[in-house]
Amino acid sequence: MKIIIINGPNLNLLGKREPEIYGAHSFDDYFESLQHMYSTIDFSYFQSNIEGEIIDKLHEVGFNYDGIILNAAAYTHTSVGIGDAVKGIETPVVEVHISNVHAREEFRHQSFIAANAKGVIVGFGLKSYELAVQSFLEL
Ligand code: DQA
Repeated sequence: MKIIIINGPNLNLLGKREPEIYGAHSFDDYFESLQHMYSTIDFSYFQSNIEGEIIDKLHEVGFNYDGIILNAAAYTHTSVGIGDAVKGIETPVVEVHISNVHAREEFRHQSFIAANAKGVIVGFGLKSYELAVQSFLEL
């Protein structure tokens, strides 16, 4: 099973950025542990701070991967383009967020992705990504 994790803007700073919200671990360390946890899955990881690069990556993987785990970060709340890309591809997308966006500022309650996602997982810290992997294995 081929699964890609796509992270959006500022998630390259995980571990350093607002650790009280996003935790103290870098994504690279977490990704390594995830690969060990699910050794039968063929994982890829992509992070970009640039909206168009995220759209290009969705197009590239969206017809030949089994699953996409997408944390579009701030673009979740603003990007019609990423929402349209999720709608246009075939591979199912699970939207994830580390923090509980619904317990935060109102602008974070809106998602341009959720309507076309297979499901949404929010608020479980980095564990949100594991829960998304699990959803691909169980469904
Ligand atoms: C986030 C939540 C977004 O609102 C925020 O802009 C992020 C991270 C999360 O994973 O909790 O950068 O997607």
